[in-house]
Amino acid sequence: MEEKEVIIEVKDIYKKFGNRQILSGVNLKVYKGETMVIMGGSGCGKSTLLRHMVGTVKPDSGSVYMRGQNMAELDENGLDALRKKFGILFQSGALFDSLTVKENLCMALREHAKLDENIISIMVKMKLELVGLRGFEALMPSQLSGGMKKRVGLARAIAMDPEIVFYDEPTTGLDPIMAGVIDKLILDLSKKLSITSVAVTHDMNSVFRIADRIAMLHEGRILQVGTQEEIKNTTNPMVKQFIEGQPEGPVNFFMSKEDYLEELIK
Ligand SMILES: Nc1ncnc2c1ncn2[C@@H]1O[C@H](COP(=O)(O)OP(=O)(O)O)[C@@H](O)[C@H]1O
Ligand SMILES: [Mg+2]
Repeated sequence: MEEKEVIIEVKDIYKKFGNRQILSGVNLKVYKGETMVIMGGSGCGKSTLLRHMVGTVKPDSGSVYMRGQNMAELDENGLDALRKKFGILFQSGALFDSLTVKENLCMALREHAKLDENIISIMVKMKLELVGLRGFEALMPSQLSGGMKKRVGLARAIAMDPEIVFYDEPTTGLDPIMAGVIDKLILDLSKKLSITSVAVTHDMNSVFRIADRIAMLHEGRILQVGTQEEIKNTTNPMVKQFIEGQPEGPVNFFMSKEDYLEELIK
């Protein structure tokens, strides 16, 4: 069998916020070209895990390796160089409201590369076409629907032709059709541009549309990693409960009052 190339390796990561243990020994490998989807309930630490992978949060212990390079050993320049290869679609979309669509995309391009303005214009145009927003350059984010904003976010994430794209809840808050559109774009982009993708989501429809492999995060650990087939046929009762959306089972989906209050003040 052909050896798969490991692009990201998360090794035994522990992370506390205050006195709350969020991640308790997370291990995960992401292979070149695959779409890895990390699923799990709200507040279980999916975004936190993603932030460790992009290097904006540091683990209390354990390491993240990018192509074998321990991210903790990189200085700011090294991290910057690495981040040029990343595209990130944040949960909120995070567009700058006072900038046009084009300017939002240009920011990503100017941040990292000294490019001629004509080249930048062409790149912006191409990326907008890829996400079905041809000619939308001059619009302001306030003139866009939620789905369009997500697509601009997506265009921005791929502006630098990244090798790896990270998606945080790409379909959350969208109507089912727009969620399907975004999922299809994620699939198309990963195939057309040979991108390695890591997405976190609690949207099960989305999980089964885009994932090559699925990892279930629960109580700070990965319960199971597998293909869609393997996860659908899981024998793990907690994974089963989650994918079937059953309220009753080994997992208690009710938050404690302490956790709820913490969520409120975020
Ligand atoms: N920077 C932070 N400081 C303190 N607590 C945080 C921080 N980021 C996340 N948390 C807490 O960690 C838990 C996991 O958060 P998060 O990773 O955002 O979960 P998810 O993305 O799975 O919904 C939540 O209870 C959240 O309140
Ligand atoms: Mg999150």
